[in-house]
Amino acid sequence: MAVDWAAVRADFPVLRREIDGAPIVYLDSGNTSQKPRQVIEAMDDFLRTGYAPINRSAYRLAGEATDRFEGARAAVARLINAPQADEIVFTKNATEALNLVASSWGGSNLREGDAVVLTHMEHHANIVPWQMLAAERGLEIRWIPLTDDGQLDLTDLDRLLDGAKALSFTAMSNVLGTIPPTAKLVEAAHTAGAIAIVDACQFVPHNATDVQAWDADFVAFSSHKMCGPSGVGALWGRMELLEAIPPYIGGGNMIADVRLDGFTPAPVPAKFEAGTPPIVDVIGFGAAVEYLESIGLHEIRCHEMELTRYTLDTLNERYGDDITIHGPDNVEIRGGVISFAFRDIHPHDISQVLDERNICVRAGHHCAKPLMRILGANATVRASLYLYNDRSDVDALADALDGASDIFGF
Ligand code: ALA
Repeated sequence: MAVDWAAVRADFPVLRREIDGAPIVYLDSGNTSQKPRQVIEAMDDFLRTGYAPINRSAYRLAGEATDRFEGARAAVARLINAPQADEIVFTKNATEALNLVASSWGGSNLREGDAVVLTHMEHHANIVPWQMLAAERGLEIRWIPLTDDGQLDLTDLDRLLDGAKALSFTAMSNVLGTIPPTAKLVEAAHTAGAIAIVDACQFVPHNATDVQAWDADFVAFSSHKMCGPSGVGALWGRMELLEAIPPYIGGGNMIADVRLDGFTPAPVPAKFEAGTPPIVDVIGFGAAVEYLESIGLHEIRCHEMELTRYTLDTLNERYGDDITIHGPDNVEIRGGVISFAFRDIHPHDISQVLDERNICVRAGHHCAKPLMRILGANATVRASLYLYNDRSDVDALADALDGASDIFGF
């Protein structure tokens, strides 16, 4: 059944707001997404009628809260086709999930001289945790470079993976939009004897995700980029790996026993969920998954492909050589993250001019400074699309860029 995209847009209350009498044009979903009323209402309802501790108390209210919390875990597992709900570990965000892998898996499996392979289009969250471990352990970090059109250059992949212990890469670049061949990369890692870790923070909100089809070992993502609240994310890992690695942080809930001479960790996932979790946010995360599923991840991907094509064509046709859009042109291998340079105007200046028309974009290095250096830029303007965007948002952006030229005299 065809999706009524206008009705989808109407689900997002903030998009009905006006500032200075004009509507908000929200093009910063790669940064964080807006929230539909279904998620807001689920959190509100839980706070009003069901809030209680989870896992600890025997009374019925707490039992119900625990069921709702575990229901959210089951929903997140279903969304990514995880074999078991208990393989979902709730974290603060994808950053914490990647730190958990580097610290717990890397800390217990990597020794001096071992190599980890990353790519030139990683977010700092998938670089710095490895650099921290590399500094501590004396690891080698190897890098998969990019082609001129912003795809991974896999020419030397086998050589880069030779003898490596892990390959960690993004399933969709937050700057270029590039969607690499994830299953192929995982297979290459496994053939080389390395594990494969996928930063799927930008991918899961916009695409049907199947961690079993990828055959990955760990996959990280965040609720706030997929219509859920901030403060919660998820790490999926193969059960045998999660069982084999040590806890990340210690405290209550993550133990089976504590004695004066040591402790025994709880089974997965509690082993990685020390302390009171963000209970309300997890409920909201589950509601966000149900919301996205009710529309269909395949439908969302098709909508965004069409809108990405429209954006690339509109900006290129209108501005020609005055605009440089980074990343591949083929929407089959890119998402709706559109970073660009425009007429030598500083990205922050463009962002400010766009803001005068309520157009929300991100200007900056996008937490990907190594990639920025490779692009030869300090910063870019980035418009990022989601299911609530339509052509009118793209037209508003294209029109407003002319305004930037007028102000800065280009
Ligand atoms: N990683 C987020 C972004 O790309 C914050 O904007």
